[in-house]
Amino acid sequence: MNAAPAILTLSDVKYRWPGRASFALDITEFCVAPQERVLLLGESGSGKSTLLSLICGTITAQSGRVCVAGTDITSLSAGTRDSFRAEQIGLIFQQFNLLPYASVLDNILLPLRFAPQRRARVAAPSETARALCANLGLPDDALTAQAGTLSVGQQQRVAAARALIGAPPLIIADEPTSALDAATQSTFLKLLFEQASTFNSTLLMVSHDARLAEHFDRVVQMSDVVQTGRAAA
Ligand SMILES: Nc1ncnc2c1ncn2[C@@H]1O[C@H](COP(=O)(O)OP(=O)(O)O)[C@@H](O)[C@H]1O
Ligand SMILES: [Mg+2]
Repeated sequence: MNAAPAILTLSDVKYRWPGRASFALDITEFCVAPQERVLLLGESGSGKSTLLSLICGTITAQSGRVCVAGTDITSLSAGTRDSFRAEQIGLIFQQFNLLPYASVLDNILLPLRFAPQRRARVAAPSETARALCANLGLPDDALTAQAGTLSVGQQQRVAAARALIGAPPLIIADEPTSALDAATQSTFLKLLFEQASTFNSTLLMVSHDARLAEHFDRVVQMSDVVQTGRAAA
């Protein structure tokens, strides 16, 4: 771990889904240092996506603190939290969540519309998107294609470019490689890491796939940070 203040700290976080007594997440402490590449491993249903939603602030813990880049997001209003997320976090969703009928270029540029600080870091948006595509191994003509017409592996690279553009300090990825074969997976991770390093972004990925472990600086088991179980009624 490096000595700089953590980019992400969760402390004494407790969460249960409203109306659901069958699942509760309880995290005493979980920290990620700047520019670390951390893999959080846990089986399906162990709460990985729930944990990422807490970090993104799309759901709010019933108690505890979730600090991203020094700000406790649990203390922000919903609107401020949305802007904060757009600025600070690049998200790669499990299903990528691209706009299928929009061009690859428009998909990649989308987060900049909601994040003026990220936008300000990109002098020439189209050129930056083009360079990201090239660096992530997408063909030259991909930028003008409708995102929905690309292969799964290519869509994943577009999702990565969209997360990286404007260099948000934290990149979060929810099992983004699960649809890929091992060789494509490993190439994708290598390219993603190279770009994250170029942008000084920290990377937190969750997965059930222990084979990804060798690629990361640190591997954390969900069961070591999270106590899951039945929520108190
Ligand atoms: N939107 C939701 N509403 C209610 N319960 C949910 C919701 N999303 C997930 N859960 C429940 O939370 C638990 C953990 O799920 P999840 O965080 O998706 O795990 P993982 O990503 O590790 O597979 C499961 O019991 C799941 O049914
Ligand atoms: Mg999940």
